[in-house]
Amino acid sequence: MERLETGIHGLDEMTAGGFALPSMILVGGEPGTGKTTFAMQSLFYGAEKGERGLYLTAISEPVWVVQKFLGNFSFYSDKAIETERLVFKDIGAVLSENPDSILQAIQKNVEKYEPKRVVIDPVTAVMNSLDDVVKYRRFMHDLTTYMKSQACVAILTSEYSYADLPHSVDAYMVDALIILSYMEIENARKKYLEVLKMRGTKHITGRRSLILSEEGLRVQPELR
Ligand SMILES: Nc1ncnc2c1ncn2[C@@H]1O[C@H](COP(=O)(O)OP(=O)(O)OP(=O)(O)O)[C@@H](O)[C@H]1O
Ligand SMILES: [Mg+2]
Repeated sequence: MERLETGIHGLDEMTAGGFALPSMILVGGEPGTGKTTFAMQSLFYGAEKGERGLYLTAISEPVWVVQKFLGNFSFYSDKAIETERLVFKDIGAVLSENPDSILQAIQKNVEKYEPKRVVIDPVTAVMNSLDDVVKYRRFMHDLTTYMKSQACVAILTSEYSYADLPHSVDAYMVDALIILSYMEIENARKKYLEVLKMRGTKHITGRRSLILSEEGLRVQPELR
């Protein structure tokens, strides 16, 4: 199976070398657990390797705001953006004006830029705009089929907690499910990453300690 290195320190070692290519990855977690950082770190890593990456914001966060927040990380590169190795696009306007055409809007961007990694951040915004489980299920199904045909890795971020998993629509449909979480330990919030599933991959299970620093996210080999 062809694989794409994740760009997240420590994660390739847990997942037999990275994301399967093609595949759909859902990165779930509560607010501030590091979902956007995860997605961006992976995109910049790919860009550094010469790949094209596409970041689709579903909440219309202005690009300069995202870039300003990312500028603190060592993986950030102005050059990746200037040379369009990494392209930022807003799909939030489509979601608010014509949510039924969201898949076409995504396809249009993917066809234009032919990325190896695509991020939709957060896909929860699509669910909220469609406001209908059946429509969202169809969207996810069609998106999966489409992304597979494009031979790329799609990273979808989602507002999730462990309690949401049993009745979630999308968690069943994706190839890989990664949950970011935090716990309060001795008055400090510690972050964790867990690979809950990764189809076709012998991966390490259980929560692992996650460090967030200027160099981005690093998964520790242990639960510490
Ligand atoms: N350089 C840094 N070092 C350590 N922690 C940082 C650094 N930069 C940001 N953070 C932490 O990362 C968190 C934000 O992570 P991120 O935006 O990736 O989370 P998120 O899961 O996407 O959040 P949301 O659900 O709000 O979109 C901040 O709340 C902050 O605690
Ligand atoms: Mg975010």
